[in-house]
Amino acid sequence: MEAIYGQAGQRCFICALAAMALVLAAFAATAAAATAPSTTGAAASPRERLSLDRGWLFHLGDITPPDIKGADPSYNNAKAGNAAGAAATTYDDSDWRALDLPHDWAVEGPFDPNGNSAQGYRPRGVGWYRRYLRIDPSERGRHMELQFDAIATHATVWVNGNLVHRNWSAYNASNIDITPYLRYGDAGNTIAIRADANPMEGWWYEGAGIYRHAWLVKSNGVHVVTDGVAATARLVKGHDWSLPVGVTLNNSADRPAKVSVEVSLFAPDGKLAASAARRVALPVLANTTVTLPLAIKAPARWSLEQRNLYRVSVTVRQDGKLLDETMLHTGFRTIRFDPQQGLFLNEQHVKLQGVCIHQDHAGVGVAVPDAIWEYRLRRLKELGVNAIRFSHNAVAPEVMDMVDRMGFLVMDENRNFNPSPDYLLQLEWMVRRDRHRPGVILWSVFNEEPEQGTEVGYEMVRRMVAAVKTLDATRPVTAAMNGGYFSERNVAQAVDVVGANYHVGDYDKYHKANPGKPFTSSEDTSAFMTRGEFSTDAGKNLIASYDDDFAQWGNSHRDAWQAIATRPFVAGSFVWTGFDYRGEPTPNVWPSVSSVFGIMDMNGFPKTAYYLHQVQWIKDRPLIYLAPHWNWAGNEGKDIRVMVMANVERAMLLLDGRVIGEQAIDPYRMNYFTVPYQSGKLEAVGFNHGREVARASVETTGPAVALEMVPDRDALAGDGRDAMPITVRAIDAQGRAVPTDSAQLTFDVSGAGRAIGHGNGDPNSHEDEQGSTRKLFNGLAQLIVQSSFESAGMLQVTASAPGLRAASVRIPVKAVGAMPFAPAAGAAPTKLGNWRIAPASATRPDPASNPSESELQVWGWGQQAPAKLDAEKGGQFNLFRTSFTPRKNLSDGNAHLRFKRIAGKAEVWLDDRLAGTKSAFAPAEWRVPLLAGTGARRITVIIERQAGEAAGMDDVSVEAGSIAQASALAR
Ligand code: GAL
Repeated sequence: MEAIYGQAGQRCFICALAAMALVLAAFAATAAAATAPSTTGAAASPRERLSLDRGWLFHLGDITPPDIKGADPSYNNAKAGNAAGAAATTYDDSDWRALDLPHDWAVEGPFDPNGNSAQGYRPRGVGWYRRYLRIDPSERGRHMELQFDAIATHATVWVNGNLVHRNWSAYNASNIDITPYLRYGDAGNTIAIRADANPMEGWWYEGAGIYRHAWLVKSNGVHVVTDGVAATARLVKGHDWSLPVGVTLNNSADRPAKVSVEVSLFAPDGKLAASAARRVALPVLANTTVTLPLAIKAPARWSLEQRNLYRVSVTVRQDGKLLDETMLHTGFRTIRFDPQQGLFLNEQHVKLQGVCIHQDHAGVGVAVPDAIWEYRLRRLKELGVNAIRFSHNAVAPEVMDMVDRMGFLVMDENRNFNPSPDYLLQLEWMVRRDRHRPGVILWSVFNEEPEQGTEVGYEMVRRMVAAVKTLDATRPVTAAMNGGYFSERNVAQAVDVVGANYHVGDYDKYHKANPGKPFTSSEDTSAFMTRGEFSTDAGKNLIASYDDDFAQWGNSHRDAWQAIATRPFVAGSFVWTGFDYRGEPTPNVWPSVSSVFGIMDMNGFPKTAYYLHQVQWIKDRPLIYLAPHWNWAGNEGKDIRVMVMANVERAMLLLDGRVIGEQAIDPYRMNYFTVPYQSGKLEAVGFNHGREVARASVETTGPAVALEMVPDRDALAGDGRDAMPITVRAIDAQGRAVPTDSAQLTFDVSGAGRAIGHGNGDPNSHEDEQGSTRKLFNGLAQLIVQSSFESAGMLQVTASAPGLRAASVRIPVKAVGAMPFAPAAGAAPTKLGNWRIAPASATRPDPASNPSESELQVWGWGQQAPAKLDAEKGGQFNLFRTSFTPRKNLSDGNAHLRFKRIAGKAEVWLDDRLAGTKSAFAPAEWRVPLLAGTGARRITVIIERQAGEAAGMDDVSVEAGSIAQASALAR
């Protein structure tokens, strides 16, 4: 099979990895600015992508909507815009917590020994979010889309009291057209979201809440739909490539349009490489897809070393006027899975040196800042990883952009194994979003499903594969099986590449029986190590880092890699896992709250497995490492097992210059020496062809005397999003890191940013991850800091611990253009609706009347009395009644009711108190004080009509401030 694809970064990424986060941030701002020059009013550019991360209100816990009982409430409840409870526009959220996204409330909660080990013993539950949005009247006619990149787990979204969206997966985006529900100007818009994190989709920590970014995308009524550009390159022959660019447009305007769609392809050097244009007729409120084929000769290929990214720009014009413009990146490369020899990328053989990773990080749960993701991927790159399986779900889009820029191959995995229509949408969403990306080499439709060896599984997978192929026929599809390979009917028969989780002993048998089927490990290893521990203590849930312990279904790091590396037909490895993650504390349970499978701990600090894999995976330079550390006071004379890991021919071990021994390096097993402990300097020297090429040492340190902090980068961008980890460690009098120290740290962070969390890699720690204290674990901790929004200056961070000299760092925070964002607005004004009208009467009705449900059956609806009918009946008085619950900030007697226009003499009663009297018949604007009071309020308006005239009122709203203040403002 030959396949090729590409996708879309907006420019070549050539900066040094260490500076990448800053560049990414700047890039994001530039890219956004290119299409989004203003945040309010009519925009110069037709498309704006505004961050909606700022300005949310949050309530932890569910809010039960009021009981609906009786004719009136039932009738009202069933009407568009009338959602009740916390989904209602008028709901009082004035005491909710203000926060910015991304947000994971599970990581804020306490560990609960009775909680779910799979979810890291963290509480999940239900939470509500609300946010207000003002849309300028000049923006009428624009298409407005709310985008949530992920919400854990079941999300229900209301806009202005209308239920606009439901999403039942924590791993896919919600893209919601909110145009029809919008109110323009001061009327304001209310977004309400109920996030129910009780349901689980995984057996690992999944977090809770709106944990990825949120956006508001404003475009023309005629626009390219979200994920509506398909751009996957194919090699035709020799150096000739084709790039069919599929563009899906939508026209939400009220008339058909004839437009011209133009596609331009820009090479990494910015030069135009190809272009094409087509005229298209767009019917109203429908999607239309056009495909524009581009032909490219000898493009610069995307590879792991040369991440040549091309930019695809799509413009839509009508009579020369730009209606929409959107961009994405793509790349030119071939992939081929050979049944005998594994994977070829651009016809070069590549063994997959992959890891599986979940998406949480120390301190922040699953609300991981983009810059911390960049740090994680950089750590993987340094380790020699060339492939990532984002298990078992699609990851954030920013991360997918990074993998293309940094050079990783990706197994893109769908969460839910289910070909029913709702669930196929999730799979299709992932393929649409990611099919332009050159890094994606495999679509995975499931992980370890009990039906994998049955006809049912086969039939289910067949349908999912077909759905993928309809959207992208260029990439192979796999499924991560952990059995069933040898059943008569099994899912391997329905996929292009067989993915095997574990079952290393079956590799040869399967290959022999199916010599024509491409094969890869989709998951392997599952070995245990507690970072920095070198003896197993079952009573303390600690596991030694010598690569001796692994799950019953798994292998040691060395065994798994040896099995894979020595079999050419196995395309490669995906080690479970690159990093520790919360939940799944296998083989332990409480008090362990996180896993110990990682090559690195949850902070990205290396375990012995890191060095093991690095020397096996990095071949272009000599490497040598030693384990354990050399601080074994009290064990003098006792044998210490020393592991030497290297990619050189031979290694010699020396203690304080005295040769302990020399061995030929075993590239799979690595080498052990037994050394009776004596303090000093243990050194490993590596030789190739008899020449020293590498050297490593561990040294006995003195007691810790001070703390030291090592920021990951030199500076932060002052955009409120950029973040970085700071390594904190204890050092001795000679400045050497003390690998066994467990000082109790206190952090103090001030200036142009804040601390957002911390960790230390101890799977048994129950410390608050976001408080101001944290213990070192085996000598290390990590503090994550983030810049403040629109900040510039310095961020000062101090770590102190009893008996140790404190450490301080000052991190420059640089002013950068803020990412375009939708400003948070105040709560939308409360409008009073759902008025009932009592039958007209000839005498003034009793304002305290309390109609029974049966009496209410004869009351009318609305704000205007039926003048003619009432006149015929001789009734000149009308009683209008509604009720509402004012926000707390409007309940203190300072707010007022505003009748935009009321005709007739009138009285207004709030509950049983008279609030105002209007003594003239003539229609007028009228303000009445909202008498102090909390909870639900009953409003009664009695209007006396002038003979022959109408009685009624236009808009009635509750406004903050006194009547005097309102009149002063009006003047
Ligand atoms: C696998 C599974 C992973 C993880 C791992 C732990 O079977 O696919 O999600 O649970 O086991 O060893």
